[in-house]
Amino acid sequence: MSEQLWSAVDAYLCGLLVPGDPALDAALEASAAAGLPPIQVAPNQGKLLQLLARMIGARRILEIGTLGGYSTIWLARALPPDGTLITLEADAKHADVARANFSRAGVDRQIDLRLGLALDTLKQISTEGIAPFDLVFIDADKANIPAYFSFALDFTRRGGLVIVDNVIRSGAVIDAASADPDIRGIRQFNERIAREPRVSATAIQTVGSKGHDGFALALVTADP
Ligand code: SAH
Ligand code: DHB
Ligand code: MG
Repeated sequence: MSEQLWSAVDAYLCGLLVPGDPALDAALEASAAAGLPPIQVAPNQGKLLQLLARMIGARRILEIGTLGGYSTIWLARALPPDGTLITLEADAKHADVARANFSRAGVDRQIDLRLGLALDTLKQISTEGIAPFDLVFIDADKANIPAYFSFALDFTRRGGLVIVDNVIRSGAVIDAASADPDIRGIRQFNERIAREPRVSATAIQTVGSKGHDGFALALVTADP
């Protein structure tokens, strides 16, 4: 019953507050047609990301985990005309679908998609002197969230935001004995933000069309 109700409420909210957009709808269609897993953020979550980026006046955004670029387009549309977004993706097929989606959405000029394992591309980025970023969205493999967060902290200006998706996993996060590398990664990350003096952080459970999950939000309170 509950999952069905959550989805119905999401449909109600999205119908009212997140009306269809041709480029975003096309991105979802192209992603589904190419057989990508339907694990992108929900429309109302995409809009939340966009609002958060606008609230902090983000001009430079880093995303880890592109998939078909749905969340990327939401975030890119928060940028001013000279703003830029780097998005990291390991799967070449996902990257191809995302690039086509970026063109259709007219945001391709502002987006730099880096193909490769994020741990490698992040190392590369740290040598390029392109940080700091205003916002980092972490949404790739969950086991590596602690490592991604360490890069994000080094890369984010004071007053910037680090947002991490999927930190609840249907409640599996409370299992301290879990042997699942994803859950262990998420728990290690939560423990890290609890004691990290350079951020003020919280985490929120969400229910909706993506089931029971949640995200963490860390405001960077120190210079990188
Ligand atoms: N942010 C997207 C969803 C991302 S799904 C959205 O909301 O629209 C997670 C993505 O991370 C997948 O495309 C997967 O291929 C990618 N991924 C998984 N492990 C990765 C790694 N080690 N490096 C880079 N990308 C990775
Ligand atoms: C999965 C990954 C995600 O980023 C997400 O938002 C939902 C599910 C997954 O790998 O199952
Ligand atoms: Mg996710």
